[in-house]
Amino acid sequence: PVIVVDFGAQYAQLIARRVREAQVYSEVVPHSISAAEILAKEPAAIILSGGPSSVYEDGAPRLDAALLDAGVPVFGMCYGFQAMAQALGGTVDRTGAREYGKTQASISRTDSTLFDGQPEEQVVWMSHGDSVGEVPDGFRVTASTLSTPVAAFENDEQRLYGVQWHPEVLHSEQGQRVLENFLRRGAGITPEWTPGNVVDELVESIRDQVGEDRVLCALSGGVDSSVAAALVQRAVGDQLTCVFVDHGLLREGEAEQVEKDFVEATGVDLVVVDAQERFLTALAGVTEPEAKRKIIGEQFIRVFEQAARDVVGSHADEEHPVKWLVQGTLYPDVVESGGGEGAANIKSHHNVGGLPDDLQFKLIEPLRTLFKDEVRQVGLELGVPEVIVWRQPFPGPGLGIRIIGAVDAERLAILRRADAIARDELTKAGLDRDIWQCPVVLLADVRSVGVQGDFRTYGHPVVLRPVASEDAMTADWARVPYEVLAQISTRITNEVTEVNRVVLDVTSKPPGTIEWE
Ligand code: XMP
Repeated sequence: PVIVVDFGAQYAQLIARRVREAQVYSEVVPHSISAAEILAKEPAAIILSGGPSSVYEDGAPRLDAALLDAGVPVFGMCYGFQAMAQALGGTVDRTGAREYGKTQASISRTDSTLFDGQPEEQVVWMSHGDSVGEVPDGFRVTASTLSTPVAAFENDEQRLYGVQWHPEVLHSEQGQRVLENFLRRGAGITPEWTPGNVVDELVESIRDQVGEDRVLCALSGGVDSSVAAALVQRAVGDQLTCVFVDHGLLREGEAEQVEKDFVEATGVDLVVVDAQERFLTALAGVTEPEAKRKIIGEQFIRVFEQAARDVVGSHADEEHPVKWLVQGTLYPDVVESGGGEGAANIKSHHNVGGLPDDLQFKLIEPLRTLFKDEVRQVGLELGVPEVIVWRQPFPGPGLGIRIIGAVDAERLAILRRADAIARDELTKAGLDRDIWQCPVVLLADVRSVGVQGDFRTYGHPVVLRPVASEDAMTADWARVPYEVLAQISTRITNEVTEVNRVVLDVTSKPPGTIEWE
């Protein structure tokens, strides 16, 4: 792999993704692990990420010089560039000349390894206070900016390279080409990794892990659990049983997509538990958001637990018991929890955390090396239906937290119809990939007066909450074109008689959350 050493900013994961976009497999490691540990992974190349620190600060992450003379090609970016300069006997100065944001860089060597074939002037994304002063022996300077004479350097003989800026950020115009030049020309790596051709490898390793044992998977209808299940199915076929708890809080068509389309496409053995009545009964009259979430979470675990017992029980006297539980853990979770091997913590929102002690499974996490966009590619490769592969995020508690007020069957039916119209129109307008998600919220306890034909109406408002986001941590309200909003509004008020008003939520996050409850 290409190893990205994380010097503690937000950039390392992004770098790893860019490397993979260049069709080279990459992993992130924290800077706290030793050079020996890094080299033990037999890296094809090493990338040193940016970081928040100055090399002068107390406790600034240190670069072990052993990484630089192991014969492995190294590319330092921003902090990584400075740490490299310092470790190799150059100097890093506090010039006081800070550069932040888009900056014009002049490439002095367009025949160099990193900049081959690129324009002499390019916009790069800078974020630094210190600058490299004296260049280490054997290096030549290949780029500069107005306030930073040494903005890039390289030493082809030792295959060491660095830039002061952030090539992984899209604002750096030539960033991906700089990175690819390093990987291909500098490190001599052949691009051959794609999420598609990694399927065979993943399938192989699942087979090794599981052997002849049986596997259980909780299918939610979301991208992650569906692709994870499809992979395990490809690997061990009918050793896998999936359980789908239909809690009645899904959107129109979603249960059918899991029960019919997904099963047809993948051939998984699926147990459907129709628990709609049970959830509705437990939720009756409950209006407080946290109480709703708790009830839904608890009911889910109890229903899944019973289904798991049934599956385990029906294979009780076989030689190969149900030993494994599939989790849709993704690579960012693995990196954020320290990147260790072995079972990661079960994320509470996966809803299968609180199983009782006598129902213990070992976890199998087939997606733990993949980013979300790669999971989608793998899903397509496996023939998972596109409606599932491209599904936008949808909360575990489902429509239960999009009805403001108590949840009942009638209100769910109203919200389902309004939501289906909104989704339909956004899709028709080609906006699905631009919008992170668009919750539709029913203000079930609010009524307002309207007029339709010659009649006064007294109906409910629904709220459209389209948001743009990178990761759901922060979000902005999405600027959906007026015509599309008008069409959604007209159709909802015409087709859903109980709704006589459509309103738009124009709040960013923070201060608002994406969901209303
Ligand atoms: P908020 O409303 O906190 O939502 O801004 C952030 C993202 O998380 C989703 N969400 C959930 N996902 N279980 C989930 O699996 C939950 O309980 C849950 N609550 C919110 C939400 O849809 C958004 O994408």
